[in-house]
Amino acid sequence: MATPENKLAFDGGWDYAPAPESTDHARIDKRYGLFIGGDFVSPEKGRYFDTINPANEQKLARVAKGSELDVDKAVKAARKAYAGPWGRMKAKERGKYVFRIARMIAERSREFAAIESLDGGKPIRESRDIDVPLASAHFFYYAGWADKLEYAFPGRRAKPLGVAGQIIPWNFPLLMAAWKLAPALACGNTVVLKPAETTPLTALKLAELIADADLPPGVVNVVTGAGDTGAAIVTHPGVDKIAFTGSTGVGRIIQRALAGTKKKYTLELGGKAANIIFADAAIDQAVEGIVNGIFFNQGHVCCAGSRLLVQESVADEVIQKLKDRMETLIVGDPLDKNTDIGAINSKMQLEKIDSYLEIGQQEGAEMYQSSVSVPKSGYWCRPTIFTGVAQSNRVVQEEIFGPVLAIQTFRSFDEAVEKANNTPYGLSGGVWTDKGAKIFKMTQSVRAGVIWANTFNKFDPTSPFGGYKESGVGREGGLHGLDAYVRLEA
Ligand code: NAI
Ligand code: MG
Repeated sequence: MATPENKLAFDGGWDYAPAPESTDHARIDKRYGLFIGGDFVSPEKGRYFDTINPANEQKLARVAKGSELDVDKAVKAARKAYAGPWGRMKAKERGKYVFRIARMIAERSREFAAIESLDGGKPIRESRDIDVPLASAHFFYYAGWADKLEYAFPGRRAKPLGVAGQIIPWNFPLLMAAWKLAPALACGNTVVLKPAETTPLTALKLAELIADADLPPGVVNVVTGAGDTGAAIVTHPGVDKIAFTGSTGVGRIIQRALAGTKKKYTLELGGKAANIIFADAAIDQAVEGIVNGIFFNQGHVCCAGSRLLVQESVADEVIQKLKDRMETLIVGDPLDKNTDIGAINSKMQLEKIDSYLEIGQQEGAEMYQSSVSVPKSGYWCRPTIFTGVAQSNRVVQEEIFGPVLAIQTFRSFDEAVEKANNTPYGLSGGVWTDKGAKIFKMTQSVRAGVIWANTFNKFDPTSPFGGYKESGVGREGGLHGLDAYVRLEA
């Protein structure tokens, strides 16, 4: 009912009182070395770079820029641990270490959440309720597999691969580190991990935690730096496996670099997922699902629902409700518990998103932006939708990685499937309908690694994740995720 209060709220007449998360408990050092062989060490060439808080553009810390010399040192440390204590350790003991990491992440969750939001710009509600608990859950889940690999691969002997090089992006910094590390360690590998250059801090915190957890030196090494540091890991001859999450462009470069080598690899790349809303769906829930799918976490999600396919008969209703909801979204301080949409991760990413806003309009689409206010300093993008788009438009085909939604309509089931599949990607999708049969038919027709039904962006460590087509190679998570870190013998 429209009481005077909620009418006012709806009109933007009053604001929520700020509810900022304290950062007193979050320790960030002025400067970080590289975590190699169980210690923080200075980079060989003595170079450092700044990581900033994208919500206010202020420097948080200086971080070592790893060179190929540092990568070589890290790979050697990882090899030594593999040939030594970690390789010799009984699987049951190995599992205990992985359990310990899980428990310690949970114990330090408030600190991890605050630092994740400071360094990357994501709302504290997300880092606190999603990123950090899921990171811990991944270690818990894979810890359980460490001494049960014979059940994962019945009749075969699962041997570790050796040294895994892992390169991760900035959208889920701690969670992607967990996705990569947990199965690698559970299977008995050692690791050289490179976090993204804009969000290195939680991976460095995790390195501190791993030292506190008493893992043998060299089992996990964290080498910070940018693309050239990543490339040095990819091409190092002492690395047996590469796991990468990031852009399709870099994924292609890595795939080319690895062609003809014996290195195993998994690539988790981009996406352009469609949320498909049928007329018989629960419309209000669907609208909330669309908002969750593309606007929360600033659309910095590879499986984001960045396209909306809505059945023509309910299109006007859905779009109007969506616009109303967009007006109530709170964009701003990532540390404020009320915030729905935080800061765009970097200036570069904001420029990329802005360029797509231009492209969309030049292509003739109609752009609508929420009128919410955004802070003056920092990198921000208002929730944005494009209507009147054609299937061939770049805003429909290309990954924007921001809070930008392209909306199309459809009449029949087949038209929805045809449009959903008509991009180079195939990572995820969403279907909203009252009919179970339609859900099952849709999951068989849409070529995507994950399809959510009447919900979106739900994750669980037991469930595999990965894409078709240009969205990647291989699966992470669940039983499938073990496969990427073992060699099977008869
Ligand atoms: P990126 O693919 O360049 O970065 C991901 C990681 O790869 C970072 O750690 C980076 O340092 C590293 N890297 C960069 N070049 C490398 C190379 N040649 N060899 C090895 N490692 C390398 O992604 P970027 O530039 O930060 O973002 C660009 C676009 O990529 C975004 O706008 C978005 O569309 C997409 N992206 C997709 C992600 C996903 O989860 N699928 C995550 C991040 C970005
Ligand atoms: Mg940063």
